[in-house]
Formats: sequence, C-alpha cells, structure tokens
Amino acid sequence: MYVVLEGIDGVGKSTHINLLEKFYDSKGIKTKRMAEPTDSPVGQLIRQELKNENSVNETNQQMLALLFAADRLTQKDEILKYKHNPDNLLLSDRSFYSSICYQNSYSITPKWIYQINQQIPRPDLLIILDLNEKVAMERCQGDEVFENLQFLRRTRQNYLKLLRYNNAVKVSAYGNVNQVQKEIRKVMDNRLFKG
Ligand code: TYD
Repeated sequence: MYVVLEGIDGVGKSTHINLLEKFYDSKGIKTKRMAEPTDSPVGQLIRQELKNENSVNETNQQMLALLFAADRLTQKDEILKYKHNPDNLLLSDRSFYSSICYQNSYSITPKWIYQINQQIPRPDLLIILDLNEKVAMERCQGDEVFENLQFLRRTRQNYLKLLRYNNAVKVSAYGNVNQVQKEIRKVMDNRLFKG
C-alpha cells in the first residue's frame, strides 16, 4: 500500500512519518519511507534552487515543476512494488500534490502539472496535514524560499481544494504530536487496514 503525507512547510510530515514507520513496522507490516525532493542528482539540484530567492518567479517555478516531476520518476519502480502489495506499506513525505499546490501561478495550470506527472503512481491514501500558515511558519526554521507567510497561505488553500478527491483526508495538525499521530493512525486503520 502506498500512502502520501502532504501539507505546507512546518505541519510535521517527517515527524509523523517517522512515528508511523516505527508503529506499523512493530505490527509486522513491512514499512518503508521516502521523501521528496530525493537524494538523486536531480533532487540535489532542486535543493540548490530552493535557496535561490528567484525560485518563486514564473519561469523558475516552471523549471522547478519539471525538475520535481523528473526527480519523482526516480522513485516510480519502488512505489509500484509497494503499491501492489497489501502486506507492505510505503509512506511518502510529499508527491506530485506538492507540485500542484506549490508550483501554482498564473502561467502554470494544475492540468499541466497532471500531464507532466502522468507516469507517477497515485497513492491509495492522501493525508493532508492542515495547519494555519502562521503556526506552521513558527514551527519551521528552514531557509527555503517558499517559507513565507503569503506564499504558504495560498499553498494551504490549494491543499484544501484537493479534498474533493476520494483518496484524500484532512487531519488537523494543531494538537500535540501524540494527538495528531493518533488521528493519522485512526484514518489509516479505517481506510487501509479495516477487516
Ligand atoms: P520539504 O518537505 O520542506 O523538505 P525538507 O524539510 O527536507 O527541506 O520540501 C522542500 C520544499 O520543496 C518545500 O518548500 C516544498 C517544495 N516542493 C515544491 O515546491 N514542489 C514539489 O513538487 C515538492 C515535492 C516540494
């Protein structure tokens, strides 16, 4: 099975993926985690770009969307192995939904993002961790270009629009780590491990 965690910078995706990995592994489910950007050469190029203040410009966002799509493809075969095995669990910190929500500007349509990510497997479950951008900003200490209030406000709204999809569930991330973790497990148990 394949689960993607999404949400704006600072919502706690990596903390929760760590805890989920340990928990499901201890229950005998072979669990693996992955994250985007990856450690591939394309992923490293992306990380450099994310420090560049021009990255929010239209042309740079177009370029980033293509780089993210290429970087994502480096994980495609691994994802497929897990997705079609009901006894295994793959947890991913971000996928192409990040491109839809972050690389969203007047020159880039979601349709184009879907097209360039057409070959990427879709998750069985998409968990959107939701938090007000002010609280999220206080929780992240990074120096990446997208970590600014106005940008994250728009990005959060874009995430909430994804809730129209059947595989998407919102989990509120305002509580403490234990409360949020409990809620995520409840969603996963209901959607994936019931019966
Ligand atoms: P992030 O999850 O913050 O990684 P880390 O904590 O390791 O630095 O991701 C880096 C940034 O990349 C984040 O601001 C979101 C952005 N991003 C996009 O803009 N588009 C994408 O498709 C992806 C995967 C990430």
